[in-house]
Amino acid sequence: TPTRILVCGGGNGAHTLAATAAAMTNVEVNVMTLYSDEAQRWRNILGRDSIVVEVFYNDGSTGKLEGKPRMITKDPAKSMEGVDAIFFVVPAFAHQQYFEAITKYIKPNTIVIGMPGQAGFEFQALKHLKDAAKLCGVISLESLPWACRILEFGRRVQVLGFKDVLGASVIPGKGNEQISDDSSLRSCMVTNSAYNGLLHPMKKVEGGYVPDFNFRYTAEDVPFGLVVMKGIAECVGMKTPTLDEVIVWAQEKLGKEYVVGSRLKGKDVGETRAPQAFGFTTINDLCSVL
Ligand code: NAI
Repeated sequence: TPTRILVCGGGNGAHTLAATAAAMTNVEVNVMTLYSDEAQRWRNILGRDSIVVEVFYNDGSTGKLEGKPRMITKDPAKSMEGVDAIFFVVPAFAHQQYFEAITKYIKPNTIVIGMPGQAGFEFQALKHLKDAAKLCGVISLESLPWACRILEFGRRVQVLGFKDVLGASVIPGKGNEQISDDSSLRSCMVTNSAYNGLLHPMKKVEGGYVPDFNFRYTAEDVPFGLVVMKGIAECVGMKTPTLDEVIVWAQEKLGKEYVVGSRLKGKDVGETRAPQAFGFTTINDLCSVL
């Protein structure tokens, strides 16, 4: 199923995002602008056409993209139907009225993005979303990803340059439509629809089957996952009793030795990607590479 986004706003940034997102395969774009009669004007001016984006790339080349939103409306209820992510692409003073218009339609697992949102979008989002905030993600971008301006309202916009780096703060939320029973770790794994059809490889043994722990779920995710986390924690002097327990269990299955007691000093640490395998053992060592 396509990802459906809502673009809030009707200015330079909203035009650019609406068109560039709609130009992507598998993305549907709703636009909502609450400002005056902007939605109706935009709809009338665009008609059946697509919004054209003239792009100046940072390497000096130019290009053209075209994308058509599936709706441009002033109606919050309509605009929010089936939406996976909401982009606030209006000047900061206008954020509040968009929150007030859409909050009651927000479903769990929706991502709310201030574009830009810094500084302070997170606080405003948490206040307005109330309980829904726990089930949604909130992302606050430090700017727009482009410098852009409308050439012809509703129809043509120009991207004059792209930001190389765009900082963001993220509050991930705890929602999950993928897991139908989150009462235990086991039920989280077996009822997670993202894992449908994925089974753990098994080995045939006398009398039945046992898990094949040499498959990458353990053989890769422990030395190149948990052991790395353990190594970073050790560099900063943090105790990790739960992580240690899991690694000790897994290393026995793998026939390896990473953790001894609560220290990362087993004979096989050198085969992992823990910082200790590369000579980083303190927080100063870690910071020295920056
Ligand atoms: P813009 O000035 O084009 O936004 C105008 C839109 O804001 C209007 O079309 C309307 O939808 C809404 N609006 C204006 N007055 C309103 C009111 N009184 N009540 C409700 N809505 C109202 O803004 P633009 O250029 O899209 O920028 C959006 C944000 O991104 C701004 O905070 C801007 O500082 C920032 N930004 C913009 C960049 C750019 O290249 N355009 C680059 C970096 C950041």
